[in-house]
Amino acid sequence: MSGHGTPIPMTSRPCGPLRGTAKVPGDKSISHRSLILGALTVGETRITGLLEGEDVLDTAKAMRAFGATVTDHGDAEWSVQGVGVGGFAEPDQVIDCGNSGTGVRLIMGAAATSPITVTYTGDASLNGRPMARVTDPLTLFGTQSYGREGGRLPMTVVGAADPIPVRYTVPVPSAQVKSAVLLAGLNAPGQTVVIEKEATRDHTERMLRGFGATLTVEETEEGRVITLEGQPELTPQDIVVPRDPSSAAFPVCAALIVPGSDVLVPNIGLNPTRAGLFTTLQEMGADLTFENQREEGGEPVADLRARFSPHLKGIAIPPERAASMIDEYPVLSVVAAFAEGVTDMQGVKELRVKESDRIDAMAKGLRAAGVAVDEGPDWWKVTGLGHGNVPGGATVSSELDHRIAMAFMVMGMATQKPMRVDDGSPIATSFPIFETLMADLGAQIVRAN
Ligand code: S3P
Repeated sequence: MSGHGTPIPMTSRPCGPLRGTAKVPGDKSISHRSLILGALTVGETRITGLLEGEDVLDTAKAMRAFGATVTDHGDAEWSVQGVGVGGFAEPDQVIDCGNSGTGVRLIMGAAATSPITVTYTGDASLNGRPMARVTDPLTLFGTQSYGREGGRLPMTVVGAADPIPVRYTVPVPSAQVKSAVLLAGLNAPGQTVVIEKEATRDHTERMLRGFGATLTVEETEEGRVITLEGQPELTPQDIVVPRDPSSAAFPVCAALIVPGSDVLVPNIGLNPTRAGLFTTLQEMGADLTFENQREEGGEPVADLRARFSPHLKGIAIPPERAASMIDEYPVLSVVAAFAEGVTDMQGVKELRVKESDRIDAMAKGLRAAGVAVDEGPDWWKVTGLGHGNVPGGATVSSELDHRIAMAFMVMGMATQKPMRVDDGSPIATSFPIFETLMADLGAQIVRAN
């Protein structure tokens, strides 16, 4: 698969202990939402700690195209002068969301209930991903969409001039779909109701409330019932973005598998809808401690310390935990390779429609590195070899997927022979400082074959 830049081959060599403080960038999910909700609010929203990765920068560019003023003040401080709910102007260019499923799906929702026509596109990865999961519920508001075969981008969405509110049960566990419907519901009169059978990350609900929308959540037999009152006047906010637990996962997992390591990740978001990886790692025997647990900007945060864990064991991860760690399976499967016994991951078919088919991409690379993997449509199992026993020495395709590239770079820190990826350039979508941050801790990652 080809991206839009020059491929950057990367090699990660076995290294000595990782030590120090890993200040990972701001949370990607919260960063996208801060820009989008800021753009839907009249007045100035200030954002501290925005993730300045390509995905989020594409969303910033999109918000400008809809008429918001988005300003970079340096040092991850940004501001957004929004246009208000229903105030999006019709962009005069195609909205290119690059690699970002979150960006395009949330923006489609936010723009769907304004009388504007918008054409969306992305890179080769994004243009292969399913969009009908978002355009189907948006049709219920009165939108029309014209995409490629299979509901793929590029796609044109004609917004609803007289949107009607919607009651919608999300058929797949997806925070992006839930959020797209809620953001569309902002400019529909009356109540929009979204029901999710499995809880997914709830940043949209928390932030909508923070911006002054009336939103209730009820746990019922049907699932989580989220009710939003349409056409609110949102109030500008000062947002402090916590560090991204999904990015923290890489230095944390690296510390667990590299002998002698001791890494502190300060100020990471520990929203329970995102923290499944850490529960899983503790069950596997990881030495993790949470210090300074507190709440900041409506999100639980803590300083997380990870130390080398010599006695990791494979476990069965319950399917109901999948949504809370959906982005962490690639790097978890690397930790599983260094554990004793089988790690069994069930209920994870969503992994097949991420930036890549993540089960397939990881299985291929793990097998090439000497690790046995079994897989089915919605499950996979990794048979761990234990510390010091993982051969490595493979070149893996990153499939335009940042998390696949970073997972194999983490793996190469503790395998017997180095690990290579054909293209590490997608890492810049979510974790642009990955190489320098890991090098500062003691990793040996170079841009070469
Ligand atoms: C995200 C939701 C998840 C996740 C993605 C970010 C979000 O996707 O994989 O990285 O910010 O809402 P799905 O909603 O497709 O599960």
